[in-house]
Amino acid sequence: MRFIVLFLLFFTSLFASSELYKQGEALYFQKGCNGCHGIKAEGITSYPALANRAKGFLTYKLERFRNQISDNQQQEMMIPFAIALSDNDINAITTFLNEFVDTQQEQYDSSYEVWGDGGS
Ligand code: HEC
Repeated sequence: MRFIVLFLLFFTSLFASSELYKQGEALYFQKGCNGCHGIKAEGITSYPALANRAKGFLTYKLERFRNQISDNQQQEMMIPFAIALSDNDINAITTFLNEFVDTQQEQYDSSYEVWGDGGS
């Protein structure tokens, strides 16, 4: 009996975490985070990569930005984006970032392969 309960708990927790992941993914794009941190949270130039980083760290940073605390001018940019996030938003977004899996593999169409010397 105990085994069955554990088994069910395991599956419901998997489900719960994937729901949170999807919610976080939606928020990441709705809130425009992708504009600076990249569509794969891979970071763009000086905007840091966020994918697969520790949930505790990401939460700590977002809560600081939400409290309008920044350590330098560059980080001030984050404040207007963090200020509107609820605790649940932060939980969802950090779950998504921490567990990030790249499902949109880059698509290369092999039919565009170039043959010959281009006729020149
Ligand atoms: C206008 C560009 C911009 C947007 C949009 C933006 N960020 Fe940022 N983000 C930054 C900058 C700049 C930093 C600070 C980089 C540094 O510390 O040098 C940062 C830092 C962070 C950090 C801390 C990472 C670290 O390594 O210190 C997290 C977490 C983060 N952003 C999450 C988000 C989330 C979630 C969103 C969407 C709600 C978002 N950002 C939207 C520019 C942006």
